[in-house]
Amino acid sequence: MDKFYTPSNVAAQLANAIDLSSVSGIVDSNCGAGSLLEAATRVYPSADCLGIDSDEDALLRLARTRPGWKLVHGDALDESAWEIFPEFKPDVAVLNPPYSMRTARGIQVTVDGVDFRVSTAMAHVITTLGHSNPKRVVAILPESWAHSQIDSKGRKAIERRYSIEVIQKLTNTTFEGARANALLVLMKRQSDNLRRVLTLPRGLPDHLSLVRGGLPVFEAVTSRAGIPYLHSTDIAPLVRDGCAPRRTVARIGRGTVAGRVILLPRVGFPKRELVKSVYLMKTVQLSDCVIAIKSTKREDLDALERAVCENWDSFLQNYRGTGARFITTQRLEAWLSEVPG
Ligand SMILES: C[S@@+](CC[C@H](N)C(=O)[O-])C[C@H]1O[C@@H](n2cnc3c(N)ncnc32)[C@H](O)[C@@H]1O
Repeated sequence: MDKFYTPSNVAAQLANAIDLSSVSGIVDSNCGAGSLLEAATRVYPSADCLGIDSDEDALLRLARTRPGWKLVHGDALDESAWEIFPEFKPDVAVLNPPYSMRTARGIQVTVDGVDFRVSTAMAHVITTLGHSNPKRVVAILPESWAHSQIDSKGRKAIERRYSIEVIQKLTNTTFEGARANALLVLMKRQSDNLRRVLTLPRGLPDHLSLVRGGLPVFEAVTSRAGIPYLHSTDIAPLVRDGCAPRRTVARIGRGTVAGRVILLPRVGFPKRELVKSVYLMKTVQLSDCVIAIKSTKREDLDALERAVCENWDSFLQNYRGTGARFITTQRLEAWLSEVPG
C-alpha cells in the first residue's frame, strides 16, 4: 500500500531541511526502499538509522545494501514495532507515510490521555513523535494534513510540543503514480520538558489533588453565616498581601477547599508571580473561575511552584481556546503528571 517512493531530488531537499549542526540518530517509520534515510545520511554521515516498514521484501532488499541500519518489519502504528530497538533515541524523524485511509472514520490515537481519530498520515506522524521524541521531523504529508477537520486535534496536539512550518508544496507529479498533492513540512521541537506525545493517562502524582471551583459569580448568594467566596480576582491580594476574601456565601456541594494550595485562574492566563502556595485557614468556596492544586505538604507545592516557573511556556500552553484562554482540570492533570520535579 502507498508505495510512492520519494524521488532522490525531493529526498535531498527534505534532508537539507533538517538543519541541525549534528545528528546521531534518524528514524523513518515507513522507510520503504530507504530513500529518505539515504538522503539524510548523506548530510549526516555518522548518524545511526532505524527504518520500519510493513513491506518485508523492501526491507530485505534494504538490509542487503545497508547492513548497518536497524531495520524492523512491522506496523509502525503498533507498539511492538518500536520495542525491537528501545534504546534507539533518534534526533530526527524523516517521513513520507501512507496516506490511504483504512476507514472514513480514521485511526484512533491517544495523546496526553485523550483519544481521538485522525487520518492515516497523521496517525503515523503522531505515533512516530510519541515513540521517538525527535528534535526535528521533516515529512512529506498530504495537503489535507495541514487543514482538514479530521486532523485538527492532531495538529493541536503536535503544536503543543512542536512548531510546524510548511516549507514547500509538492504537486502530484512529484511521485510516480497517482498521489495527492503534498507538502514538505518541518516540525521543530519546542519543549524539551515533556517527553512523550503518546502517553497513557498516568493521573496525578499521589501527593497532589485538584479542586475545581463550581460557583459562578452570578449564582453566588451572599450569606453572613456562609464561608469565604474566592474568585480569580481574589488570588492576587491573597498571594501578595495575605488578604483573605471578605465576601461570604452559602456553600454549594462542590468546589470547596482549605489548607495548603496553589490557586490558578481557570479562565485567562495566570501571572507567574501569583503561582505561589498559600495557606487557607478556613474552608473557602471557589468560584467556577478558579482551580486549586492541593497538597498536605508544603514542600510538594514549593517544588511544584519551581517546576511551573522553570517550565513556564509549556505550562501556559495548557491555557487554550479560540476566545478567552482557559485551562481544564484534565489538561492540568496531564501536565502535572508529566512535569519534572
Ligand atoms: C509513501 S511510501 C514512502 C517510503 C519511503 N519513506 C520513501 O519516502 O521513499 C510509504 C511506505 O509506508 C509503508 N507502510 C504502509 N503502511 C505501513 C505501516 N502501517 N507501518 C509501516 N510502514 C507502512 C509502505 O510499505 C511504504 O513503503
